Amino acid sequence: MKRDDLMIAGSGLDEVRGKSRVPALLDMALSISGLLLALFMLGHLIFVSSILLGEQAMYMVTKLFEGYFLFGRAYPWLVAMVVFAVICLFFVHAALALRKFPASYRQFRVMRVHAAVLGHADTRLWLVQVYTGFAMFFLGSAHLFGMLVDPDEIGPYASADRVWGGAWAVDLLLLLAVAAHLGIGLYRLAVKWGWLEGRDAAVSRKWLKRAGLAITLVFLSLGLLSLAAYMKIGYEHRERAGERYRPATTQPAPDAPGPRIS
Ligand code: HEM
Repeated sequence: MKRDDLMIAGSGLDEVRGKSRVPALLDMALSISGLLLALFMLGHLIFVSSILLGEQAMYMVTKLFEGYFLFGRAYPWLVAMVVFAVICLFFVHAALALRKFPASYRQFRVMRVHAAVLGHADTRLWLVQVYTGFAMFFLGSAHLFGMLVDPDEIGPYASADRVWGGAWAVDLLLLLAVAAHLGIGLYRLAVKWGWLEGRDAAVSRKWLKRAGLAITLVFLSLGLLSLAAYMKIGYEHRERAGERYRPATTQPAPDAPGPRIS
């Protein structure tokens, strides 16, 4: 028996004629979509945490994404287009990952027993990806749908009013799930494709695990601080909920009625 056949013996795959490359290609697509989402989420964290620099800073970031500094006026539908692209990527990633999820409660139990018997940290991490991925599918969909239908409801007061008005619960759970999924996902990507393996894979794996944990903790800390900042502004603004932020500038606000500045 050839080495490759020996490795898959027992799975039944060694008896299959004409082995397909499709599973490997789908796996690569899963990794690429995951990496793109991870990069997006790191950018998203910087954008959302601009609130820590003040309301004016978050307002400027919002107007930047609405194309104000390029076109001289704000177009929230530009944000909706980005949201749509992210939704597509999000669903592609979820659909590719679903192939690997247990398809029944029986399979789920077998998987848990296997993980317990193996006692292997990376297998446990894979289980965490299954749980957090499942949670993110629902929580992320709710968040993305809100951003898609109301792209003009983003801003220091609009966001703070929403968070204070109840969105904090979804945001908090989503933040916990994303922080874990992101750090573990990047670690698993590096291990899977042999990035930064160096001479001793066991040593580099230890460092990669620490790097993944550091990413999770930084993401979580900055995310929690931002969420707290939105809550504080939302609380202080509760009597005037719905009123939009007006920038401290001598120029008319980009979304103010009347003539536009060029
Ligand atoms: C282009 C797509 C997205 C846009 C425009 C967007 C925009 C925003 C904005 C403006 C906030 C501040 C709170 C609010 O206004 O409700 C926020 C918070 C948050 N978003 Fe997104 N988001 C997008 C995609 C995602 C995705 C894909 C995820 C994860 C699956 C995500 C996870 C979160 C979390 C966890 C928070 C709360 C974090 C915090 O406040 O520290 N977002 N997002």
